[in-house]
Amino acid sequence: MSALLDGKVAVVTGAGRGIGRGEAIELARQGACVVVNDYDGDACAAVADEIVALGGRAVPHAGDASDLGDAEALIRAALDTYGQLDALVNNAGVLRDRTLVKMTAEEWDDVVRVHLRGHYAPTHFACAYWKSAGVPGRIVCTASTSGLLGNFGQANYGAAKAGIAAFSTIVALEMKRHGVTCNAIAPAARTRMTEGAYGTIEGSGDDFDFWHPDNVAPFVAFLCSEAAGEISGKVFGVQGNTVELYRPIESAAAIENPAGRWNPADFTDRVGELFKESGIEPTAENPMRRLRYSMTRRT
Ligand SMILES: NC(=O)c1ccc[n+]([C@@H]2O[C@H](COP(=O)([O-])OP(=O)(O)OC[C@H]3O[C@@H](n4cnc5c(N)ncnc54)[C@H](O)[C@@H]3O)[C@@H](O)[C@H]2O)c1
Repeated sequence: MSALLDGKVAVVTGAGRGIGRGEAIELARQGACVVVNDYDGDACAAVADEIVALGGRAVPHAGDASDLGDAEALIRAALDTYGQLDALVNNAGVLRDRTLVKMTAEEWDDVVRVHLRGHYAPTHFACAYWKSAGVPGRIVCTASTSGLLGNFGQANYGAAKAGIAAFSTIVALEMKRHGVTCNAIAPAARTRMTEGAYGTIEGSGDDFDFWHPDNVAPFVAFLCSEAAGEISGKVFGVQGNTVELYRPIESAAAIENPAGRWNPADFTDRVGELFKESGIEPTAENPMRRLRYSMTRRT
């Protein structure tokens, strides 16, 4: 029986544990040769060994996804080892949660670097290869509901993750003519990252372990396949046995001044029309209340 990714070659960043580990194993299970990246060398070697033990093909690549030299070497490792590259899954990530007033510049920079440069760098080298080789490619980026909606204590992480959603949409547009798709997922799962942030996340109590990190991988494998060739520039929520499609941010209401440029004082009377027309609350709200599937509510 042929699998979804037979004959394909994929790179997964931050695949030494958590969601990335599950993605690397599923891509290999679906027939792909996988370059398993992580800056934790022991962790990515263990996942590559696990894939080989399962009968798949994989090599580890220890390196920092946000480092230009390491990212170039990562894409080169796929080409040198397996002779081609078909898919890149940008997954590596870290948290440095802190409310803004207490957040140091280092905590800000670390998160922005790992997530935004960590997406830019491998994607840059992969797209350069696909463009010059004239072959199609697939990119899956990893955003977060913290960026799509906004989460308390995560100004650095949310800003980076919102940036990743925008990055993914723009890469999709730029690479369309080269046959490369780019989509973003906002996953949710029980991992070192979320248990570090929220404490122990229990199983849902059902037979199906909803928050298991391996539940994210099947949709990522699908997005990496030829079958997903028409899907690009989209953002999906992925958790448990559910996949959501996020609507892009859109204008919800508008007001115009018939006399031309606004006088600031005019807004005192007119700004309320925006909130009335849209039904949006004018004050700061907790946007995470809009989650369909919440790890913290379910437990
Ligand atoms: N777990 C969730 O519910 C959740 C929710 C939203 C988004 N995400 C995102 O999913 C991705 C995976 O998160 P996870 O929960 O599996 O976390 P995790 O901490 O279990 O795994 C992240 C892995 O990335 C590696 N890594 C970190 N920085 C790296 C770098 N610069 N280069 C290479 N590897 C690096 C780590 O060593 C680790 O193995 C992250 O981008 C995270 O922000 C996770």
